[in-house]
Amino acid sequence: MKILVINGSPKGKRSDTLHATTAFLDGMGAQAEFIDTMTADIHPCLGCFRCWNETPGRCVQHDGMEEIFKKYIDSDLVIWSTPLYCYGLPSNCKALMDRLLPLNRASMYTDADGHTHHHAAVGHFPETLLICGCGFPETENNIEGLRFQFSRMFGGRAAMFFCVEAPLFGLPGTEAVTAPYLDLVRAAGREYAATGALSADTVAALEKPMYPPELYRQGSKK
Ligand SMILES: Cc1cc2nc3c(=O)[nH]c(=O)nc-3n(C[C@H](O)[C@H](O)[C@H](O)COP(=O)(O)O)c2cc1C
Repeated sequence: MKILVINGSPKGKRSDTLHATTAFLDGMGAQAEFIDTMTADIHPCLGCFRCWNETPGRCVQHDGMEEIFKKYIDSDLVIWSTPLYCYGLPSNCKALMDRLLPLNRASMYTDADGHTHHHAAVGHFPETLLICGCGFPETENNIEGLRFQFSRMFGGRAAMFFCVEAPLFGLPGTEAVTAPYLDLVRAAGREYAATGALSADTVAALEKPMYPPELYRQGSKK
């Protein structure tokens, strides 16, 4: 199975979220190729639609995204490993998402619910998994925008979970709370490898705070 990890953290290898992603891969018993969106030379989408109208399936820009696009469509599973920024994706990671526009064509259709979609321009789409690290101790009133974006972008192919209190991964002396959480993530990786999905119970367990929210908030005071 070819797995591509898109590391959306501007902190690169120092990403809090990567702790969860590495544990998940460990649970899956899988290797992956990692893309660092901060160093990958991904320019913003120009909005010219030439990938639809002039060079179908191909962006006119020549930068790091040429290689990443090929790797993306060649993957069986793409794991987006990213922090939550301003209730959405960090800009470097969002640039990569926008540059996936050549996956689709200009022509549109409506599904059974009357919602509009573009036709696909490629025959194969990888499975999608989002692992998102959040600084707040709760998902409610925090992650809904990104959850919606991934469901809409990747439809039934998107599994996801949000790690609240993710900064704990990067702090010394927090192993007593992070280690049991990372054990849960490894178990989730095993489940995903076996079933290709994450159950609602698994996602609910992964989205619980590692540390009592009140104490976590107090710890953030300077
Ligand atoms: C610009 C910026 C915006 C952020 N916005 C949110 C937010 O909307 N909700 C949240 O829970 N955390 C937010 N955070 C906190 C990060 O998600 C958190 O620090 C996370 O652990 C960083 O993960 P990383 O080390 O993998 O990059 C924000 C952090 C930054 C720097």
